[in-house]
Amino acid sequence: MKVDGHHYRSLWWDLEKEALQIIDQRWLPHDFRIEQLDSLQDYCVAIKDMHVRGAPLIGATAAYGMAFAMRQDAGDANMEQAWQLLNETRPTAINLRWALDRCKAALAPLPPEKRGAAALRLAHEIADEDVDINRRIGEHGLQLIRDIAKTKPDGEPVRLLTHCNAGWIATVDWGTATSPMYQAHNAGIPIHVWVDETRPRNQGALTSWELGSHGIPHSYITDNAGGHLMQHGLVDLVITGTDRTTRQGDVCNKIGTYLKALAAKDNNVPFYVALPSPTIDWRVSDGVKEIPIEDRDSREVTHVTGTNSAGEISTVRVTPEGTGTGNPAFDVTPNRLVTGLITERGICEASATGLASLFPEMV
Ligand code: MRU
Repeated sequence: MKVDGHHYRSLWWDLEKEALQIIDQRWLPHDFRIEQLDSLQDYCVAIKDMHVRGAPLIGATAAYGMAFAMRQDAGDANMEQAWQLLNETRPTAINLRWALDRCKAALAPLPPEKRGAAALRLAHEIADEDVDINRRIGEHGLQLIRDIAKTKPDGEPVRLLTHCNAGWIATVDWGTATSPMYQAHNAGIPIHVWVDETRPRNQGALTSWELGSHGIPHSYITDNAGGHLMQHGLVDLVITGTDRTTRQGDVCNKIGTYLKALAAKDNNVPFYVALPSPTIDWRVSDGVKEIPIEDRDSREVTHVTGTNSAGEISTVRVTPEGTGTGNPAFDVTPNRLVTGLITERGICEASATGLASLFPEMV
């Protein structure tokens, strides 16, 4: 998508430098900085410390990490170690493990001298596939928005609500939850997006930055506002992303998603989840019991970062010194609260039967 009129993906391989370039998202929306990853340690830190974030983007970055490692030393021991180190960076989003397993399965049978080039080709393939999957999710989600638009008086926008950032910078391009929004906007359908701030890291500010860059009307709201807006008939449709969805359609996503789903259910607001197939964990069924939830640093809760009146990026503490915190980064929304899953193959019910109908080869 575009930044200041230029098209970017959230990562790209620089052919001249033979190195991966990423957008360092820690500085957004205040500053747009590009970072080059030059060691396996750089890749691990970039994922763990959230220079890159969002389930699909973590997966693509890990694939390039494997390629980096294989170009350095294509032996079995190094492949195993790179898999291990990258896999340890973040526990919840399954795309990371999915990409690493895919790389290992493709590279292990090859003789070491062929692994470096093959790993890089595979990383490119995973990145390109992600773009295509998200574009197709957008086409299916667009239909939902179009149907609601038909019920509106002329010119009145379809009002969406989203949580966290499931936008183009959380993927390689398009985003998952935002892809239908971009496509609706491009098709001339008026929309307005309520953007949850998504404490503690305020990924909503990233979503606002993205939507603003594309001229999509939106309002940044506090995390607690969504239920009130739904009660007052101000939300037509909720679309969120997901970091891991089980084979029975339980959805793990950024902390606070579950509360939005409860409020949506209570107010008969359709609650959809944009789900690329690499985010489905076919090995697990009960999301609440089986998905590991990342517990993050307390500084994310006690401090906030923004731009001060001098225009400098600054971090301040918002709690009394020494206050204890809890910082679970994700929660699980049980399938009964999810109206439907928007995948690249179409929309299905959030259930084992629904997912099996679209991905019969996986069951
Ligand atoms: O902790 P983050 O910022 O990596 O969490 C991201 C989310 O929870 C997104 O909603 C999810 O990955 C879907 S991204 C397309």
